[in-house]
Amino acid sequence: MTDQGSTQAGNNLDPWFNHYAERAAGLRASEVRALFAVASRPEVVSLAGGMPYVAALPQDLVINAMDRVMVEQGAVALQYGSGQGVPALREQILDVMALEGIRANADDVVVTTGSQHALELVSKLFLDPGDVVLSEGPSYVTAIVIFRSFQADVQHVPMDENGLIPEALREHIARVKAAGKKIKFLYTIPSFHNPAGVTLSWQRRLEILEIARENDILVLEDNPYGLLYFDQPAPDAIRSVERDGVVYLGTFSKTLAPGFRVGWALAPHAIREKLVLANEAAVLSPSSFSQLVISEYLSTADWQGQIATFRGVYQERKDAMLSALGEYLPELSWTNPAGGFYVWVTLPESLDSKAMLPRAVKELVAYTPGTAFFGNGDGRTNMRLSFCYPTAENIKVGVRRLATVIRGELDLLNTFAGTGLLGAPETHRRLSAPPPDVS
Ligand SMILES: Cc1ncc(COP(=O)(O)O)c(C=O)c1O
Repeated sequence: MTDQGSTQAGNNLDPWFNHYAERAAGLRASEVRALFAVASRPEVVSLAGGMPYVAALPQDLVINAMDRVMVEQGAVALQYGSGQGVPALREQILDVMALEGIRANADDVVVTTGSQHALELVSKLFLDPGDVVLSEGPSYVTAIVIFRSFQADVQHVPMDENGLIPEALREHIARVKAAGKKIKFLYTIPSFHNPAGVTLSWQRRLEILEIARENDILVLEDNPYGLLYFDQPAPDAIRSVERDGVVYLGTFSKTLAPGFRVGWALAPHAIREKLVLANEAAVLSPSSFSQLVISEYLSTADWQGQIATFRGVYQERKDAMLSALGEYLPELSWTNPAGGFYVWVTLPESLDSKAMLPRAVKELVAYTPGTAFFGNGDGRTNMRLSFCYPTAENIKVGVRRLATVIRGELDLLNTFAGTGLLGAPETHRRLSAPPPDVS
């Protein structure tokens, strides 16, 4: 194990410090995790997490489905199942995906333990140490964690308000190829991006697919939020126009409830076979109980009506967040999501969202600093604000508190700028360097 690997994988209080595999080095608790423990106190308005508002799902819908499953198929529900997933549910998943233009065969669907596990399985199948994964910058934090745990080199391609920029992708691919590195896939969240809140335009979906085809790069399309649009649906999925070069990931976490831990991958035939084997090796079979309950729910409840209810809740909260930002922080800029859970905010250059977080938590508001969503330290002047969980009133309170924090920080900087009292970046760097060797 390299020195760097061992430092990151463990510490001197851990007796197994020198035993971890190098890939464990990527599994580090986020620096802001301890703060989030404080931020979960009820008096703190958390604009940080991405928890769906499951209280908008009537409990009796779930209870009825569970009851019927246990009465009618109890022995099957409590048993191991197939490594690919319950056939009836895989058929129903086709109906869900059809809403975003996807035509597929249930044979190519693999049910996984949330789409998070599908990300892990795809990574396991494709990534060797040093392989390049391209992703939007910023990107979903826990996907970056997975890719890095397979020792991949995660490289970000910039986005604008219409999503990933095709020209930037083309240039980036050329640079990686010139450096002799292998790109294994492009990871993209085209609709209502986490964390950027933007949506890839239809034209760009086609362009990006074309670039991927030209360069023989697999597209990993992650689409947890696609059905949670506000005024109009997102463009059809990338998978709707390309069957062989796309692995598509879906989930019931945001359109039903994450507690079931049921997601899926739709993959080209050969990849699908390997995914099933990897799924079996990892979990034997995804939860039969969860799958059967979801299958029952989909066949007996008005699931599309329920998704519309969720859309209404999130749209109201998004409106509350944007209007509070406009009222309290008009000098900042932010994205205007057409669906999903998140707004990406850009702060003045002088601010550092990670450094500011303890002060925000002290003022009883939490957010996620932008650096969490990059593998390379970018995002210092950004933050992700989630509007999915707090009520509209609390969102307003939270943004007002955030404005107090940002104003305070800017005041401080204006008052002491140039005096040296705030510490130059050099000082910070020295303080975080290892202590001198005095042995
Ligand atoms: C972009 C993205 N992908 C995947 C996931 C994982 O979802 P799950 O494992 O609950 O299906 C999330 C969860 O927030 C997400 O935002």
